[in-house]
Amino acid sequence: MSDVRKVGVVGAGMMGAEIALCFAASGFDVVIHETSLDLAKKGKERLGGILDKSIQKGKATPEEKTRFLESIALTDDFEGFEDADVVVEAVFEDFGTKKEVFSRLDTICKPQCIFATNTSSLPITLLATAVGPDRTGKFLGAHFFSPAFVMKLVEVIPALDTDEDSVAFMMDCCRKINKIPVRVKDVAGFAVNRLLHAMWVEACRLLEEGVATPEDIDNACRYGLGHPIGPFALMDLTSNDLNLRVQQILFDAYGERFRPRPVLKQLVDANHLGRKTGRGWHRYNK
Ligand SMILES: NC(=O)c1ccc[n+]([C@@H]2O[C@H](COP(=O)([O-])OP(=O)(O)OC[C@H]3O[C@@H](n4cnc5c(N)ncnc54)[C@H](O)[C@@H]3O)[C@@H](O)[C@H]2O)c1
Repeated sequence: MSDVRKVGVVGAGMMGAEIALCFAASGFDVVIHETSLDLAKKGKERLGGILDKSIQKGKATPEEKTRFLESIALTDDFEGFEDADVVVEAVFEDFGTKKEVFSRLDTICKPQCIFATNTSSLPITLLATAVGPDRTGKFLGAHFFSPAFVMKLVEVIPALDTDEDSVAFMMDCCRKINKIPVRVKDVAGFAVNRLLHAMWVEACRLLEEGVATPEDIDNACRYGLGHPIGPFALMDLTSNDLNLRVQQILFDAYGERFRPRPVLKQLVDANHLGRKTGRGWHRYNK
C-alpha cells in the first residue's frame, strides 16, 4: 500500500466527487474522469462547498481546502490514468455504461492497477467480465456510502476470481483514507442493503397495518433504537424510485421476504419520490 500514490476516479456525481475528496484529504494525488470537463468542474465545485462547511465546523483549515482541491486533477479523456495505482468507478448504475468504462480503462491503466466499482446492485463478478483475463484478479467492489466524505463504511467485495492480494490491498487502501472496510461476498444487496431493506419492508408493513404513522415509526427508530435517522426519512433521502428498484432486485434474488410493499409502489406511481420531488413519506419545502 505504501506504493500507492495516484488514484483515478471515474464519475464526478454524488458519489465519485466525494470519493475523490476522501483520497485527496488523505494525501493522494487524484484524477477524476467525467464525460465533460464542465461536469467534472461542477463536481469539484461541490467539493469546495463541502470543505467550506468543514472549515466552519473547525474540521478543516482554508489551507487544507486549497491543498485538497489542488491535488484533484480533472479530465474528460482519461489523461493521467496511465500511472494510477487504483481506480474507483462511480458512473451511472448501468451495466453497459460501466462495462464500456472498464474496457477502456483496461487498455489505458498499467497492468498492476487495481479496479474497484462502487456499484450498489450489479454483480461484481459480472462487471469483472469487462476486463481482460490479466486484470480479472485485480477487479473488485468497493461500495462507499452516501455522503461518501462523511460515512465511514466501505464494503469490499471480491468477485469470483479476485486475488487475495487485491482484497488485502483494497482493505488497506480504505484504512489509509480513514474508512472502516468490511469484507462481504458478491451477493445481491451485499450486506448493508439487505439489512436496510429488510427494515424498510417491515416499516412499510407497519404503516399498511395502521400500527403507527411514518413520523412515529421514524421516532421509534431514532429514540428507541438509536438510529440517527428514521426509515421513512431515510427512504425519502435516498429516493423512493431507487428504493423500489433495489427492492425488486432483492426480491428477484431472495424471494418473498423482500417483496416490495404496495404502499411503496403507490407512492412511486404518484411521483412522491422523496426530497428530490418535495414530497415522499414526508413533505419538504423544495
Ligand atoms: N447515491 C448513492 O447513495 C450511492 C451509494 C452507494 C453507491 N452508489 C453507486 O455509485 C454509482 C454512482 O452513483 P451516483 O449517485 O454518484 O450517481 P450520479 O448520477 O450522481 O453520478 C454519476 C456520474 O457519472 C458520470 N458518468 C456517466 N457515464 C460516465 C462515463 N462514461 N465516464 C465518466 N463519467 C460518467 C455522470 O456524468 C455523473 O456525473 C452508482 O453505481 C451507484 O449505484 C450510489
